[in-house]
Amino acid sequence: MKKESVLRPTALVTGGAQRIGQAICYALARSGYKIALHYGHSAAEARQTAQHIRENGGVCAIFPCDLSDKRAVENLLGRVLKKFSRIDVLINNASVFEPSSLKKDEHDAMKRHFAVNFHAPYILMRSFARRAGEGSIINILDTHIVRDKTSHSAYLLSKKALAELTKMAAVEFAPGVRVNAVAPGLILPPASPEGGPANQNPGYLERLAKDVPLKRKGRVANVTDAVLFLLDNDYVTGQIIYADGGEHLI
Ligand SMILES: NC(=O)c1ccc[n+]([C@@H]2O[C@H](COP(=O)([O-])OP(=O)(O)OC[C@H]3O[C@@H](n4cnc5c(N)ncnc54)[C@H](OP(=O)(O)O)[C@@H]3O)[C@@H](O)[C@H]2O)c1
Repeated sequence: MKKESVLRPTALVTGGAQRIGQAICYALARSGYKIALHYGHSAAEARQTAQHIRENGGVCAIFPCDLSDKRAVENLLGRVLKKFSRIDVLINNASVFEPSSLKKDEHDAMKRHFAVNFHAPYILMRSFARRAGEGSIINILDTHIVRDKTSHSAYLLSKKALAELTKMAAVEFAPGVRVNAVAPGLILPPASPEGGPANQNPGYLERLAKDVPLKRKGRVANVTDAVLFLLDNDYVTGQIIYADGGEHLI
């Protein structure tokens, strides 16, 4: 039993306590991965998610880390390896999503978004490539990376940068490590400032979905299925799957 547990692959999922990150943790746990669940502020949600995984026969440990703290991010993978002794998959899912404009906002918004949405994934990717040597990295992007009109300039720029990093790292980290991405479209309404689901604006996504080719919003399973496909297909690297109902095409 102990040997079987050591043989099981391990996945680190950032921002895994709730919403899309939680769904990724559940999907990977169902597929047999041991889960290293990273969280920032959502300690109670992280504990509940880990408990749910364990109750369903999975293995999960939780790892708090402020992704805007470079030193803490540099130590995160080492903490995971201390606990699980191997790492096979890295999912960079955590993200800051706040309105900002290139004209109005100062350096702060850019710095905050780049720290969490670009630099932290980059540090984790580099540590992963060095320490794991082989495996798979998946960065969670956003269908809006194909656009230039936005009310979230710093967020969008950080995701565009992460998209380019995905492709460059796919080349540099090959042949041992594959690097891919999933770009979700309308999946969940934005989280409230407190971190909980925003229900102040019911029907928000449904209204936006009228402009999407498939005329409906997506489900978290559309994101997790794309993640599982990218992990399974060992001849795919440097790809971005748009789980967005065709929104990136229009
Ligand atoms: N929701 C959608 O429909 C949608 C659409 C397009 C793209 N996406 C992308 O899909 C991914 C997941 O989306 P989501 O809506 O589920 O994300 P989210 O709820 O907005 O954020 C995910 C997690 O990021 C973590 N995080 C933020 N700042 C952090 C920091 N400084 N340190 C540590 N953790 C931090 C938070 O963890 P804690 O709560 O533990 O602090 C948060 O729960 C994101 O990359 C997002 O850009 C989502």
